[in-house]
Amino acid sequence: MAGPQLLETVAGEWLRRVQAEYGSAARTHSYVGWLIQIAAPPELIRAGMRIVDDELEHASLAHAVVVATGVSARPAIDQATLGLPRRSEASLFDELLVHGIDIFCLGETVAVPLFVEMRSRCTQPVAKAALDRIVRDEVRHRDFGWEILDWLLSVDRARVEAELPGILRAAFARVRANYGEAGAAVDERPTPAAELDFDWEGARAWGLIPLPRYAEILARCWERDYRPRFGKRGFEAVAEAAWAG
Ligand SMILES: [Fe+2]
Ligand SMILES: [Fe+2]
Repeated sequence: MAGPQLLETVAGEWLRRVQAEYGSAARTHSYVGWLIQIAAPPELIRAGMRIVDDELEHASLAHAVVVATGVSARPAIDQATLGLPRRSEASLFDELLVHGIDIFCLGETVAVPLFVEMRSRCTQPVAKAALDRIVRDEVRHRDFGWEILDWLLSVDRARVEAELPGILRAAFARVRANYGEAGAAVDERPTPAAELDFDWEGARAWGLIPLPRYAEILARCWERDYRPRFGKRGFEAVAEAAWAG
């Protein structure tokens, strides 16, 4: 049976996920507003609105996991970090490109294998139900990102080509800062002693994964997703240079 330390950790992680889902909903909502302003194709706008709705559902499901732990805690939603601030000097096209790459092409693409990994040894029913729904939706959120990129390319390929190297370098740096470098500095995890004591079997049953797994999954995602997907659009060299940093 799960001990109190485990349940505290589980509740803390799922609370963080509640906050993250609100963040995703808010960013996508801002993004969809820009898509409407630029008169993007209605099917892209509707796909974006559906994502906002999904993210709210993910927040509810994540909150249900916190409740299931029996730990009473409330998410600390930081209003200042919700939504996308519009840079006054940037065109709407550039904003859609920068954030489309960052949030959807990179963020939602790596989210798919991350959530698959979280679900792979998850047995606690409430957590499993949340991860089942999240995994299903994230595939569509990933596809949305690449559809957006294709649409931006169809509107102004030259502009995307000019901006992509800088955008990708910054976006890869951010995703690495979030998930760590494989085999390198991922050491904000518990000290070895604390880690030995920690019941990882129990935590995995609730859908948690150890920090080093994030870095491994990111490295694999570069090989399996980022590189071929940018390559298919003629950007393999650009992506490789940006990934190399
Ligand atoms: Fe989500
Ligand atoms: Fe998502």
